[in-house]
Amino acid sequence: MPDQKPLSFSEIYRSGLVSFDMILGVSKAMLDTISQAKSAALSDAPVLLVGETGTGKNILAQAIHNAGGRSKRPFCEVNCGGLHEMLQESELFGHTRGAFTGADKDRDGLLMLAQGGTLFLNEVGDIPASTQKKLIDVIEYKKFRKLGQDIESTTNIRAIAGTNRDLDSLRAKGEFRDDFYYRLNCFRIEVPALRKRKDDIPVLVDSLLREFSARESKNVSGVSPKAMSVLVDYDWPGNVRQLRFVIWRTVATVDSEMIEEEHVVETLELSDAKSPNTPLASLEEVERNYITKVLCLTNWNKTRAAEILRISRVGLNRRIHALRISEPA
Ligand SMILES: Nc1ncnc2c1ncn2[C@@H]1O[C@H](COP(=O)(O)OP(=O)(O)O)[C@@H](O)[C@H]1O
Ligand SMILES: [Mg+2]
Repeated sequence: MPDQKPLSFSEIYRSGLVSFDMILGVSKAMLDTISQAKSAALSDAPVLLVGETGTGKNILAQAIHNAGGRSKRPFCEVNCGGLHEMLQESELFGHTRGAFTGADKDRDGLLMLAQGGTLFLNEVGDIPASTQKKLIDVIEYKKFRKLGQDIESTTNIRAIAGTNRDLDSLRAKGEFRDDFYYRLNCFRIEVPALRKRKDDIPVLVDSLLREFSARESKNVSGVSPKAMSVLVDYDWPGNVRQLRFVIWRTVATVDSEMIEEEHVVETLELSDAKSPNTPLASLEEVERNYITKVLCLTNWNKTRAAEILRISRVGLNRRIHALRISEPA
């Protein structure tokens, strides 16, 4: 009988199975956000998801796509942060052979691959102004040009953008175009930070305990009231992503059925690099923790993690193996 472990979040995300049912929340702030996202799913207008890292912009984008009229077509994500301008444009628009050094064959970009579906412009605040201008034509006129090509191609995509940056101050500095902003801002959805909706913490903890107990083959059934109040009081700079990491690590390391205050305090210190109580660590621990953190922040997108770490993908895989880092559920 094959191992019937539940799918990990990254497996679900990659397989495109995210639905609104999986987005947990009981707080008024989160219920408002979910209800706005559900209305956006009924429309084809561009969406702008604004929220700190780890608040759920990616899962909301995918839930909107899956609940809408384009659900049978692709959902493509482009990470606009950190990529070299030319590579980013080539990823989006595609290129012809010889368009730039290293372009040895014709390649379609995401605008073509996402045809009929949704293009999720993640970290949209990092898109250079020249690319923003080209994307306006895509949203407004459904037209674009491959790099190195004069003739225009047409595409039919729905744009969803996500950002953790303050687009208003970027606009004030002239780094984000007003005309691009107004086009994306059709449905502006604020995704609240976890510390502003503490009612959601017990609900999320409960679900994460079940998820990680199953994945880790553990029998952890609950969190003591004191441990829960530590979790509720904490301010979660990394939001739900950090909460997932904390519960995963705690479940993986406890021997008891109940999670107690000291277990939570210990993992919180580890997950928060700013904590003054963290004992001095070995270089290997620092490297393991930092690589784990970058992998968590990128949802285990190794290409993206390798870019942030400025090492090759092969080098990243080697380190993951050597440092015995395992992918969370
Ligand atoms: N409301 C929620 N309910 C359940 N899981 C959530 C919720 N919000 C975020 N998550 C989980 O937290 C992690 C980070 O979410 P993500 O959508 O990648 O955040 P962001 O894109 O804002 O950085 C993911 O593993 C996601 O499944
Ligand atoms: Mg994200």
